[in-house]
Amino acid sequence: MSKDLLLEANHIYKSFSGIPVLQDVHFDVRKGEVHALMGENGAGKSTLIKIITGIYTKDEGQISWEGKPVEINSYQDCLNLGISCIYQELSVIPPLTVAQNVFLRKEPLRAGLIDYDKMNKMTQQLIDSYDFPLKPTTIVEDLGMGQRQLVEILKGLSNDSKLLIMDEPTSSLSGKEAESLFGIICKLRDQGVSIIYISHRLEEVYRLSDRLTILRDGKNAAVLEKDEIIPKVVIETMIGKEMEEVDDSSKQLHSDDGPVCLEVKGLTDSANRFRNISFQVRHGEILGVGGLIGAGRTEVVRAIYGVDKAASGEVLLDGEKLDPNPALSIRKGIGFVPEDRRKQGFIPLLSTVKNVALTNYDIIKRTGIAIDENDELELSKKAIEAIDIRPADPQKEVGTMSGGNQQKVVLGKWLVRGLKLLIVDEPTAGIDVGAKAEIYGILDQLASDGVAVIVVSSDLQELLRVSHRIIVMRKGDIVREFKDETVTQAKILAAMQGVEEEEK
Ligand SMILES: Nc1ncnc2c1ncn2[C@@H]1O[C@H](COP(=O)(O)OP(=O)(O)OP(=O)(O)O)[C@@H](O)[C@H]1O
Ligand SMILES: [Mg+2]
Repeated sequence: MSKDLLLEANHIYKSFSGIPVLQDVHFDVRKGEVHALMGENGAGKSTLIKIITGIYTKDEGQISWEGKPVEINSYQDCLNLGISCIYQELSVIPPLTVAQNVFLRKEPLRAGLIDYDKMNKMTQQLIDSYDFPLKPTTIVEDLGMGQRQLVEILKGLSNDSKLLIMDEPTSSLSGKEAESLFGIICKLRDQGVSIIYISHRLEEVYRLSDRLTILRDGKNAAVLEKDEIIPKVVIETMIGKEMEEVDDSSKQLHSDDGPVCLEVKGLTDSANRFRNISFQVRHGEILGVGGLIGAGRTEVVRAIYGVDKAASGEVLLDGEKLDPNPALSIRKGIGFVPEDRRKQGFIPLLSTVKNVALTNYDIIKRTGIAIDENDELELSKKAIEAIDIRPADPQKEVGTMSGGNQQKVVLGKWLVRGLKLLIVDEPTAGIDVGAKAEIYGILDQLASDGVAVIVVSSDLQELLRVSHRIIVMRKGDIVREFKDETVTQAKILAAMQGVEEEEK
C-alpha cells in the first residue's frame, strides 16, 4: 500500500433486507487531495460514506487509516481518528442556536457548566474566518435551507479534521455561498486536509477534484486521475448511456399567451421577508424565480400555497380570490414541492404508497368510508413510473431511499392528479444529471398540457433551461423581470446581486 494513502476501504459489501447496495467496493483517499465520489441517485455513495463514518455497519470488507486496519463503529470513533462528515440529510438540530449546533457534544465548559459566552465567541470567530452570513445566537429553525447547510458545514469545519467528507454540501446553496465553500476547500487542501466530495453539480466536481471515483449500481465503475477527468466520459460512465449536448450559456425567452392562471397582488409578509410582490403566471407558462439565499423566494411561494400566512395582498387562481391554505390549495389544483423536502415534503417512516396517498385522498376510490387499497397502490405505481423512482418498490419506506429518489417521491405525488399550478422550490437539489433532464422534460410536458409552473432555483443553468420568463428577487423585492429577450447566466447573476451590468 502506498504510504500517502490516508484512508483505504477494500471489498466493502452492504445489503439492506437482502438487497445488495454495495458490492466489492474499493475506495481510497490520498493525503491532501479532493476526491470526488460520483454516481447516479441510489448508486450507493451515501451508504459508503455512512459505513466509513460508523453510521452503518458493513457486511464485509476492511477499512485502513494511515496504513493500519481500523474498526469504525460509531461517529465518535471516526471523530477520534480525525474524520468529520457533512451529511446529505443535515444533522443540525433546529431548536438549538447556531453556536449550540456547531459545538454540540464538545461545548466549552467553565466550572462544569457550558460557557455560552465563550461558545458564542468561538462560533463568531469561525463565522468570521469563513465569512458565512450567520450569527451564533440565531435559532436554526429560523434559518432557510441554505443557511442550515452552512451551519452543517461550519460544524464539520470546527473539528480540525484530517479528512472532511462532504455529501452534497452545495445542494441548497446559491452560487455565491458555493463559491466561498470552494475557496475554503482549496485552502484546506493546501493545508494537507483530504476531502471526499459528493455532488451532482458537475461543474463543481470538475473544478475541484484531484481524483474521481464513480460508482454504478453499487459497484466500482472507474477511478480517474485529474488529467483523465473528461466531462463526457464521466457522465457516460455514471449513467451508462450517451448524453445529448446542449448549449446552456444563453437563451431567447418567449412569452406565453395562455390565460392568466395565477395572479399575485401586493403580497406582503408580516415579518418583512418580502413586500408588495405582484406578478402573474399564465397557463402553459414556466416562470423561473431567481435570487440569492435569503432573497425571500421560498417565503413568497410558501405564502401562495398557504403554508405561511401573508399579512396583506391577494392571491387569485383563474380569477378566483383564494385565502391560501394547503388543504384548499390541493383541492383547487395547486401542487407544491418545498425546498426543505425532509421536513415538509414527505414522511420518512411511510412508504411511497402512503406518501403519494397523503395529497391524493380526494381522488382515491373508496368502499364506504374505507379507502380502496388497490387504487391507492395503483396511484403510487403511477407516480413511480411517471418519474422513474428507484427502487420501484411502492412499499419501501421513503426515509430509506437515496436523497435523489426521496425528491422524486415529493414531485411524483403531484404528477398523478390534475394540476392547474405547480410550484417547485429547488426541484433538482441532489438529483443526478440523467434524472435532472427527465425532471425538466416533465416540467416542459406539464406546461404544454396547460399547467402554470413556478420554478424557484438557485441553479442558473437550470433557470435558463426551464423558464419561459424569469423574475429575480433581491432582499424581499422583485428587482427584475426577463421577458422576450436573450438572457444569459451573467445577466441573471447581476440582477440577483443588485449590480446592473454594463452594456457593451
Ligand atoms: N437505511 C436503509 N434501508 C434500506 N435501504 C437503504 C437504506 N439506506 C440506503 N438504502 C438503499 O441503498 C441504495 C443506495 O442509496 P444511497 O443513499 O447510498 O445512494 P446515493 O448514491 O447516495 O444516492 P443520491 O445521489 O440520491 O444521494 C438505495 O437504493 C437506497 O434505497
Ligand atoms: Mg446520497
